[in-house]
Amino acid sequence: MNILILGGGGREHSLAWAVKQNPKCDRLIVAPGNAGIAQIADCAAINIEDGDAVASFCVENKIDFVIIGPEAPLAAGVADTLRADGVLVFGCSKAAAQLESSKSFTKAICDACDAPTAGYAHFTDAEAAKAYVTQQGAPIVIKADGLAAGKGVVVAMELDTALAAVDDMLGGQFGDAGAEVVIEEFMTGEEASFFILCDGKTVLPVGTAQDHKRAFDGDEGPNTGGMGAYSPAPVLTDAIAEKALAEIVRPTVAEMAARGTPFEGILYAGLMIENGQPRLVEYNVRFGDPECQVLMMRLGAQALDLLLACAENRLDEVTPNWADDHAMTIVMAADGYPGAYEKGSVINGLDDLPETSLEMTFHAGTAEKDGQVIATGGRVLNITARGATLKDAHAKAYAMTRQINWPEGFYRSDIGHRAL
Ligand code: AMP
Ligand code: GLY
Repeated sequence: MNILILGGGGREHSLAWAVKQNPKCDRLIVAPGNAGIAQIADCAAINIEDGDAVASFCVENKIDFVIIGPEAPLAAGVADTLRADGVLVFGCSKAAAQLESSKSFTKAICDACDAPTAGYAHFTDAEAAKAYVTQQGAPIVIKADGLAAGKGVVVAMELDTALAAVDDMLGGQFGDAGAEVVIEEFMTGEEASFFILCDGKTVLPVGTAQDHKRAFDGDEGPNTGGMGAYSPAPVLTDAIAEKALAEIVRPTVAEMAARGTPFEGILYAGLMIENGQPRLVEYNVRFGDPECQVLMMRLGAQALDLLLACAENRLDEVTPNWADDHAMTIVMAADGYPGAYEKGSVINGLDDLPETSLEMTFHAGTAEKDGQVIATGGRVLNITARGATLKDAHAKAYAMTRQINWPEGFYRSDIGHRAL
């Protein structure tokens, strides 16, 4: 079959890498792709948030299956347009994408189905919001309601920080995304990510992971999209995963179906775990980046069969075949990230790295120029390895990372420290 993947980051490189290994895949196109993806697939320049443009591209290129990577096309309703045109698609509807695109929507769903999560209130008026914050006291968490590129959450340890965050968000810092704020109880515990395929009725867990959000070693520095990840997440034991399915995921899926907006795609549940009890921090409606890279490393070619079964509403017929192994990915980012960074520096040493089912370097922000790979984004490479133990995966991934010659880049040297 001919397959189109939308997106151009490390997540989409890992999806392309897994899909490409499955004999069902004939032609693979990724839009827009990047320099690493271009080595295994055709890349196309289309506006991936324009459903009609994607639908026309599918007709012209005889595409049989579309996999949507990032949240923006999902929130823009690209999956709806494709489904209406009869294109088989992996990715949820615009209505279901509200689980990521609106924090107050998710809170209302949790209320309706009694899913454990942080206590909260929501406001559009700054004075009312600040009165509530003052009454609750710090620590407290302030969130912009809409999509804010991962920057719309302030975990305030002091009251002043919380009050300033309310003013910033309701004062227009994030435009419409911040026209409403959700104010949450501060939760303590250990965080982990749980990935579940849903076809509207059946739910199928496809792995757990933990990532590292802070830029620097020792969990210091500013928040990023994620500087590394590993799978499985030891804190998400089978018993806790079962509890999360029973108390959070299945009730959410049932509530979405009851509202006439079934969730079909990948549900990424960010959980806070304390004393054996999982609570929902947030939902995303896409694979995590870089969590997807470690999941794909462990799933390999069967990922395509699972995504197809999901899109064809027959998840009840499939089971992931897990090797009892571990994977780790290390993000190499451009100096300055997540703040301002230079583009265009040359990355050397990539050609000598192994590319096997156990070791892969996924590209995020890269492009090819005059036969060389150059950095074009903040997060640039995801050096990923699989091993019998996490220690083994860690040793392999770091050995590969040290082989890369890119003076303008940096990486954390302590990915997985908690689990190791
Ligand atoms: P979110 O975008 O909702 O995942 O929030 C980003 C990060 O903020 C999470 O990964 C948590 O580390 C932290 N966070 C969000 N909500 C809470 C909360 N209610 N209590 C404590 N930490 C939180
Ligand atoms: N790595 C966090 C995310 O994808 O949202």
